[in-house]
Amino acid sequence: MRSLRSILLTGGAGFIGSSLVRQLLKRSEVQCLIVLDSLTYAGNRANLIGPDRDPRFHFIEGDIRDGELVTRLLREFQCTGLMNLAAESHVDRSIERPGDFITTNIEGTATLLEAARLSQVSFLQCSTDEVYGPIDFPKYADESQKLKPSSPYSASKASADLLAQAAHKTYGQDIVIARCTNNYGPRQHPEKLVPKMIYHALRDEPLPIYGSGQQIRDWIHVEDCAQGLIATFEHGKSNRVYHLGAKFERTNLGIVRSILKELHKPESLIHPVEDRLGHDGRYALDPRLALLELKWRARIPFRTGFKEVVRELSQSLRPR
Ligand SMILES: NC(=O)c1ccc[n+]([C@@H]2O[C@H](COP(=O)([O-])OP(=O)(O)OC[C@H]3O[C@@H](n4cnc5c(N)ncnc54)[C@H](O)[C@@H]3O)[C@@H](O)[C@H]2O)c1
Repeated sequence: MRSLRSILLTGGAGFIGSSLVRQLLKRSEVQCLIVLDSLTYAGNRANLIGPDRDPRFHFIEGDIRDGELVTRLLREFQCTGLMNLAAESHVDRSIERPGDFITTNIEGTATLLEAARLSQVSFLQCSTDEVYGPIDFPKYADESQKLKPSSPYSASKASADLLAQAAHKTYGQDIVIARCTNNYGPRQHPEKLVPKMIYHALRDEPLPIYGSGQQIRDWIHVEDCAQGLIATFEHGKSNRVYHLGAKFERTNLGIVRSILKELHKPESLIHPVEDRLGHDGRYALDPRLALLELKWRARIPFRTGFKEVVRELSQSLRPR
């Protein structure tokens, strides 16, 4: 079992990272939690208000591509683990301008792996179901599924996973990879599907939905995912991949309809727009290995979890 005593968490000011911070600080084993985040447009220091009052919490504004800084932090705080959640994460942006995706997601991960090697620190890579490309119905991808990413984003994430696996094979580094499905939850950047649709619906504006809206995703509450990341770090076997999914599949159109229903808005607001380039039709992960080896499974039912999240996000996205 890996120790949570002193953790360097990258990307902690983002959506999943800020939820992981909250879950980690609930654990008494955590004596020191250092968040390293460069606060890109997607990172928000306000996401850490509350946890930042905990004396075990430290925030460092900095870049994962800065190897000297990462090495210094791992040494100074005598870290036992490095969890990498820092990433450029928006597929649309990767299609328009892939550059930052290559440098942060690939070079940044390589830099972190090297620093982890020098300090002999265990490494968790947070990855995505998108690395497999589309999965035909009714199949589910298991962890041995071939990587076939479609977008610059997913290709950069697949590359990062391969670098982590190479670090294990070449240097014997202790690494573990968690591939997560679509998260919903509080503090998500408004460019992403759920908050974006809530934002427009609250203003009675058209809700732009790609193509037919029939793309299928597996939806998981961000708190469940954060718990899964901790379980993967603590209990995952070295060099293993684990799938953190809820096996709750919905089309994007279905998600948008649920939002409109919660907000008592008409479906006539739905406005189909030209489909995203290379848009994958379905992602579907088999999470059984995570249950078997990590004793983890998603627990928050979509029906109650999603309602609560729409309510919470509506508070922050309401017109002022
Ligand atoms: N959101 C999802 O549904 C989802 C699903 C599967 C996997 N993931 C993965 O989970 C991780 C977190 O995703 P998220 O949705 O929270 O992303 P996010 O965009 O909300 O947060 C990313 C964070 O990383 C920081 N960051 C970006 N570049 C950096 C750099 N060079 N140095 C330091 N910090 C940097 C940003 O400031 C931000 O705080 C990513 O690796 C993503 O690929 C997300």
